[in-house]
Amino acid sequence: MERSSSPGKIHLIGEHAVVYGKPAILAAIDRRVFCSVFPSKGIRIFSQGFGSLYSKPKDCIDFACLLTKLHECGEFKRLFAEVRRSPSASLKALAGKAMLELGTEDGFTCKIKTQITPNSGLGSSAAVSLSFVNALSHNASGKKVRDASLEIEKLFHGRPSGADTAVCQRGGMVWFENRRVTGLKFVKRKALLVKTKRESTTGELVSMVRKIDRRKREPIMDEIASFAKEMRGAVAKNGNGKIMDIFNCVQSDLRALGISTEKTDSICSIVRSNGGGAKISGAGGGGNVICVHDNLRLLRKKLSGYDTEIVSLGERGLI
Ligand code: PMV
Repeated sequence: MERSSSPGKIHLIGEHAVVYGKPAILAAIDRRVFCSVFPSKGIRIFSQGFGSLYSKPKDCIDFACLLTKLHECGEFKRLFAEVRRSPSASLKALAGKAMLELGTEDGFTCKIKTQITPNSGLGSSAAVSLSFVNALSHNASGKKVRDASLEIEKLFHGRPSGADTAVCQRGGMVWFENRRVTGLKFVKRKALLVKTKRESTTGELVSMVRKIDRRKREPIMDEIASFAKEMRGAVAKNGNGKIMDIFNCVQSDLRALGISTEKTDSICSIVRSNGGGAKISGAGGGGNVICVHDNLRLLRKKLSGYDTEIVSLGERGLI
């Protein structure tokens, strides 16, 4: 049996801006997806949180070929409808595309266990794709695993920047710019995640931001990029003050892009009025709010009406 696990991630800064070639800083978190794979007749996937799949290798591969064609033609609306038709359709896309990328038609049984809520800005799909491909591929190179995972991500998100895949594979904290990833020097710290309990769809939110008039969008992206340079210095030092200030400024930029929600805004305002910093993590439209504060337990008490959890940043990557 082959086993693999991948962390999820949070965006410290640069979500959406990264799609326009601006830098982003991401951190791997101590919430993971675990995959185990063993050979069997046919394809069977059992997952906690994503349903199950019983299928034939050929059916999975044919489905992945159809989805790949839709992606190549830019027919994202139909692509997303096919992939999200049911939990088993998503698993079929995952299995079929991984088999296409790895050049295998052998049957297998896979068990997936996850600690990461899907569609909540925590990189669930990157973590599932990476751990699945890594467990299925027996000793493939890191590059092969990353490339195959990114191809799977394309079926779920259209044109992902590759930042989630990069940080989940590498772990720690990374600077991601123009498809290139660099590991960052960082001081280990914790953050509070507050769930808005509203799922978001990355591909649709990215398209929504793309529709904003360039003259409005570009200055916002430029401002986020200049905050990213300041964030790079701040994560390498002790103390949260600078990170909290940047979070609050960037949240107002993300809000101006239309990807915040009323609930996100009210969580951020509670955090700010208690001396902390808070922002969306990932695509927005709900998902998780990430908060930094010198006393996370106290902040958690102030947010007692919400579902919250404390996570560590800069954790181990794909294993
Ligand atoms: O919400 P997530 O975890 O899928 O992150 C999306 C981040 C974006 O910058 C909005 C898109 C991307 O591909 O980087």
